[in-house]
Amino acid sequence: MTQTYKIAVLAGDGIGPEITEQALRVLKLIEQKREVEFDCIDAPFGASAYFSHGKSFPEETKELCDTADAILKGPIGLSHEESEKIPVDERPERGALLPMRRRLNTYANFRPISLPAGMAHFSPLKKEVVGEGIDIMLIRELIGGLYFGGKENGTTESGLRYVKETLEYDEGQIRQILVVAFKESMKRKKVLHNIHKSNVLISSVLWNEVLEEVAKDFPEVKVIHMLVDAAATHLCLNPTQFDVMVMENMFGDILSDQGGGILGSLGLMPSACMGPDKAYYEPSHGSAPDIAGQNKANPYSMIGSVALMLDMSFGMENEAKAVWQAMQSVFESGFSTSDLSKGGDGIVLLSTTEFADKVISALEELL
Ligand code: IPM
Ligand code: MG
Repeated sequence: MTQTYKIAVLAGDGIGPEITEQALRVLKLIEQKREVEFDCIDAPFGASAYFSHGKSFPEETKELCDTADAILKGPIGLSHEESEKIPVDERPERGALLPMRRRLNTYANFRPISLPAGMAHFSPLKKEVVGEGIDIMLIRELIGGLYFGGKENGTTESGLRYVKETLEYDEGQIRQILVVAFKESMKRKKVLHNIHKSNVLISSVLWNEVLEEVAKDFPEVKVIHMLVDAAATHLCLNPTQFDVMVMENMFGDILSDQGGGILGSLGLMPSACMGPDKAYYEPSHGSAPDIAGQNKANPYSMIGSVALMLDMSFGMENEAKAVWQAMQSVFESGFSTSDLSKGGDGIVLLSTTEFADKVISALEELL
């Protein structure tokens, strides 16, 4: 019997629609090759939704997400100047993305920082540092901390403008993300780097206390504690020491972008945002308005997000592996796009669609 999955497709802003279109071709091909149907339904989201529907996260999109089996989301956001045209509360980050994370309760953000040996030339790091390649799973708490804590602004008694934002976590929120990280470690090398700042922040002190409790249920996992500032250095100097890393929301935002940096581009960073009932998949990067609509952006992060969806929402692990392999083989054959590479040195630059054509042909062979 054909299994049907309903997928909400939120193409987003900037390069979102063009890379989403290519990612959907991958799903189409899998439909042809397997007993599965993907019912993909488009919905407005982000700045484009504000301009077309007056809301960056319209009701119809909320309802669709509520009933979908999974959500595929493109990048959102506009240039600084364009953003100014949207009221602060409707800007896509604050009006759409954060409310979506909270609504769907997607507390566990998986950000693979992965560079197989055949793609090592993308990294700005020296060859000997990249070694056999980088393979890190950064797990970021996604619905707590500074992002969602109380906020206040006003004027002090002496007339100075002030702001206050709070970093809040309760032990339940900490425990649930740590359990996810330990479980992921069990599936991989059983080494977990706990990233914190307990020399300054009491939120990290509580985090580490809860970690000691959770660790008792996973005696096989070796935990390595590392301060977040030190982790930033280690990611550059010795990234291959890491397997799974876990951290709170803000640390994860920053270090995952650094992850993109050591790979050579945020364009190589797909992600999965998992909650107890819902999951959505998105590139970790922004909407690159400077190259939007020019058929230049590499679709890797969006197609990679589809691979994560196949694996984590639909249990199609083999198909997911084939998608990764297909993309890597295209890079290994010397093809790239101009957002990732300058060309020359045997590298042939393709457009977004041409790159996806190659991925599709490679995938056809693998499925
Ligand atoms: C990310 C992004 C978002 C975040 C922005 C767009 C609000 O940078 O997903 O990493 O800060 O979480
Ligand atoms: Mg970020």
